[in-house]
Amino acid sequence: MVVNVKTSKGSYKVIIKSNALSNLYEEVKEISGEGKIFVVTDINVDSLYGKKIKAVLKNCFYHVLPYGEHTKSHKYLMELYDEFLKAGLTRDDTVVAFGGGVIGDLTGFACATYLRGIKYIGVPTTLLSQVDSSVGGKVAINLPYGKNLVGCFYPPSKVIIDPEVLKTLPTRVFSDGMAEVIKYGAIKDKELFMSLFDDYIDIGSVITKCIEIKRDIVENDEFDKGERMILNFGHTYGHAVECYYNYDKYTHGEGVATGMLYITDISEKMGITKAGTHQLIKQLCEKYNLYFPKATVPEKDAKEIIKKDKKATTDGINCVVLQEIGKAVIKKEIL
Ligand SMILES: NC(=O)c1ccc[n+]([C@@H]2O[C@H](COP(=O)([O-])OP(=O)(O)OC[C@H]3O[C@@H](n4cnc5c(N)ncnc54)[C@H](O)[C@@H]3O)[C@@H](O)[C@H]2O)c1
Ligand SMILES: [Zn+2]
Repeated sequence: MVVNVKTSKGSYKVIIKSNALSNLYEEVKEISGEGKIFVVTDINVDSLYGKKIKAVLKNCFYHVLPYGEHTKSHKYLMELYDEFLKAGLTRDDTVVAFGGGVIGDLTGFACATYLRGIKYIGVPTTLLSQVDSSVGGKVAINLPYGKNLVGCFYPPSKVIIDPEVLKTLPTRVFSDGMAEVIKYGAIKDKELFMSLFDDYIDIGSVITKCIEIKRDIVENDEFDKGERMILNFGHTYGHAVECYYNYDKYTHGEGVATGMLYITDISEKMGITKAGTHQLIKQLCEKYNLYFPKATVPEKDAKEIIKKDKKATTDGINCVVLQEIGKAVIKKEIL
């Protein structure tokens, strides 16, 4: 399956194919041509797939970083610039970001800025990065003061997705991505949402559907000034949960799931959301290990965290709420 994404800098293909890793050379060559290929990955992904990737991408440069959110930092950005220079990378060369959202965001930002921009290809390996962070062109690093504070919009030249690699994901990391999948269904696609109740889900088709939804939204709002905001359904309160528990008790997806339930409970009571919607989301969250009734934040703390959130504008906090499953709207004065 191939999804085309148009951007102001041209368009790129997202290829979703089982065992795509085995044909990585041909897919990468289409972009890299005769130039060098430089792979960036993290230590976990390296230990599982490093040998294979090095064998498939003959003679590539290859650099392994630590895993985890701390890697998305100034320190490892500098390390990448050093490695790019040592390898003599020029604007004719191509970097492959092989890993989850951390590797994608950091490598993408390094490529956006090194020599004022060199080509990069995303090969996302977590469900979250396959359905979300690898598409849309947002790249960033964190600062000690907060997440994603330095970044830009810099689309990849191609994204190659192999759903087979999800088989090695720890259950909790897989569930993390499922929260975003549930979100896509909730905001834009009732059929996708309802299909998640099935005993068997074809993960390749689910990934494709999510990418098509994100593609449609980001093509209309590449620089995040309007419609793209609906991708934040569940994220405002979700961030408060992540932050209140110091980012170590609940994952991003667990926060988002909690946020979707929290806001839908309120909007349903206000009569904005069709009755029964909260219950449907709750059932899916339970099914995918994303139901955390104890993940609450005292109101005062939640308000404070949300005020600092970048989605707060001068005239109030924008909040994404559902009218029903598949239909999202932006409202103020909810939280
Ligand atoms: N750019 C965007 O639009 C965007 C959108 C959403 C999230 N993000 C960013 O994405 C990051 C989170 O990404 P993530 O959830 O992928 O986390 P991650 O990159 O930290 O990966 C999670 C864990 O899974 C491991 N892993 C990766 N692939 C694996 C595989 N196939 N098998 C086994 N283990 C594997 C990693 O080593 C890591 O330990 C955050 O920094 C977030 O800010 C960016
Ligand atoms: Zn998210």
